[in-house]
Amino acid sequence: MKLVIGSDHGGYDMKLEVIEHLKARGFEVTDVGTDSPASCDYPVYAKKLTDVIKAGDADLGILICGTGIGMSMAANKEEGIRAALCHDVFSAEATRSHNNANVLCMGARVIGPGLALMIVDKFIDTPFSNDERHIRRLSYYAPVQ
Ligand code: RB5
Repeated sequence: MKLVIGSDHGGYDMKLEVIEHLKARGFEVTDVGTDSPASCDYPVYAKKLTDVIKAGDADLGILICGTGIGMSMAANKEEGIRAALCHDVFSAEATRSHNNANVLCMGARVIGPGLALMIVDKFIDTPFSNDERHIRRLSYYAPVQ
């Protein structure tokens, strides 16, 4: 599985921890930036990340900003992107299984790195259920490319 990750300055430190964790697990991870803790605009990195997924160059993405809210709003404007803001493990599992979410958003000012890594693991380890009722519900608003 190929992963892509991005953050703004608010999520920069947490992003580095997530990358280290994912690489230790053996995943290939593309980092679209930002590349320093200097102030920047989160929509720029949401767009860079969703472009990678839309091009088919990654299966799942992770976006981190201060709250995760701006990243999720920006990412969900893109066709084929189903971004979910998750700050608990239950939601991370449910949004993969039920919503076939392809981008996980988190807020580094909301949760600590320990919980963030548990959420990341649950998100990437949970497959979409392929359940007919969930496919039908997705078809209302989130066409899969
Ligand atoms: C940056 O200060 C902050 O607004 C951003 O990281 C994010 O929380 C936006 O939703």
